[in-house]
Formats: sequence, C-alpha cells, structure tokens
Amino acid sequence: MNDATFSVFKEFIETNLGIRLPPAKKVMLEARLAKRVRALGFSSHEEYCDYVFGSEGFDREIQQLIDSVTTNETSFFRESAHFGILSERIYPELAASGKLDVNIWSVAASTGQEAYTLAMVTEEFARVNRVQVSYRILGTDISEKVLRVAQTGIYTEHQAERIPLAFKRLYCQRSRDPHAKTVRIRPEIRARTMFRQLNLMDERYPITRKYGIVFCRNVFIYFDRENQRKVLERIYSHMAPGGYLFMGHSENIAGAAVPFKSVASAVYRRE
Ligand SMILES: C[S@@+](CC[C@H](N)C(=O)[O-])C[C@H]1O[C@@H](n2cnc3c(N)ncnc32)[C@H](O)[C@@H]1O
Repeated sequence: MNDATFSVFKEFIETNLGIRLPPAKKVMLEARLAKRVRALGFSSHEEYCDYVFGSEGFDREIQQLIDSVTTNETSFFRESAHFGILSERIYPELAASGKLDVNIWSVAASTGQEAYTLAMVTEEFARVNRVQVSYRILGTDISEKVLRVAQTGIYTEHQAERIPLAFKRLYCQRSRDPHAKTVRIRPEIRARTMFRQLNLMDERYPITRKYGIVFCRNVFIYFDRENQRKVLERIYSHMAPGGYLFMGHSENIAGAAVPFKSVASAVYRRE
C-alpha cells in the first residue's frame, strides 16, 4: 500500500472511528485489508481504496472496513480483579436494602464475553447472598461482526475455558450436538443482555437509561487524548450519580474534565 492510500484510510479511520493510526501501523492495516482486497478481486490496496470511497462501494463496504480495522480481543473474566471488586465491594453496598437493582453497560463489548461475565457475576452475587435482583445489561460496539457473535451467546470450549466450572454449570449450557464443542450462555441470562451498535465518536449516544455500572475497558488505548476526553464526558452523562466506571488496567482518566473519584485500580466513582 503506498503512502497516499495509507493517508486516505488513516484520515477516515481516525476521524470516524477515533482509532489512531501512526505510520508504524501501516503494515498492520495493509495485512488486515488484504483479505478484503482479495475477496473483492482487486489487485491492489489502491483499487480497493478507490472502491470503498467511491460512490458505488461506500455503503456496501464501509462496515466490512470497520470490522477489519477494529481489534476485538477479549475473554471471559478478563482482568478478573474487577469482578471481585464488583461482587465484594460494590454490590454489597448497592444491595444494602436487600435488593440489587442495577443497569450495566459494557461500552466496547466486542464478542460479548465481558457482558456475559458481568451477568454471571451479578446472578452469582444474588444467589449466594440471597438478595432479590433486577438487572439489565447493554453491550455496545462499533463492529457489527462482533455484535452478531455476542447476540448468539455461543462460544467454543476454548473461549469458555476461563469460565469457572461452577459458573459454567449454573449459567451455561452444552450444545445439543455432542460433536459441536461449543457452550451457550443460558437463555435467562441472554434475555437480560442486549447488544446494539454504537460509535463512541458520535456526538450523541442513542441511550436513555442511566447506568450504575459501566465497563469501558481496552478501547481508550486506541483513542488520542482529545477523543478520550470527549468520550468520557459522554459516558459520564449516561451514568447514574454514584455509578462506577471500570477502565482497562493500562488506561487511566487522569486530567478528565468530569468529576470521577478513584476507588480502586482503574475503578472510578461518578461524583
Ligand atoms: C479490545 S476490544 C475490548 C473488549 C472488552 N471491553 C475487553 O476489555 O475485553 C475493543 C473494542 O472496541 C471497539 N471499538 C473501537 N473503536 C470503537 C468506537 N469508535 N466505538 C465503539 N466501539 C469501538 C472494537 O470494535 C473492539 O471490539
């Protein structure tokens, strides 16, 4: 891919997705787009670029481009200390009245493992502590491809390895096909979990509820400071007063214009 073509993709991706593409990422971008170049029968990235940003290709191809350039790595119980903080510190406080009533948002949900981990941890807290529970989980992401997987709630046994056995027994089910080697999140949990497409770069988010628990992990690393600041302000406006924000362990919100108090490593409370 020549430098001019890289600049066209870079400009589009940085402006519309917020994902930074320094020159060192050119090789990565080239490799990721190569599949689409081949699939559409083009002989170069330059031809693909003309197609994507031409009047004919844009509507057809733009989602594929987004799916190709996003990094969707995730897993069940990723950065697991956060789930301990939730069930040992935050939920006991929220459920002091004997009832846990909470809206949860997984901001960059990818294929859904984070949202379903939150569901299992919430169910388990209610079961063990015998509290009444009412919760709803929203998972959002810009990539349609990952949201399609999240919606099915079906994972390979390998992906499900990180789910503790006791949780697997209670909250997952085996495929009816003995050869399938997949597990599926139980329907009661899937019914409380919904996935929607949302671009964090949009000025307004189509969200009406206020969220008491927000997981926004491992997506700020792709944004520059200015976009981090803007996204944080929007997330803040969709949080309930006193709500908790969880960031990835390598991310921080130092210098945020909105008032958050740090309560644990990469965990903040909306003041
Ligand atoms: C590395 S995954 C993080 C998944 C999960 N939160 C975790 O920590 O395991 C980052 C996700 O952010 C999404 N993403 C990137 N830019 C985005 C944007 N502008 N709006 C919404 N989601 C975005 C990607 O599609 C990807 O699925």
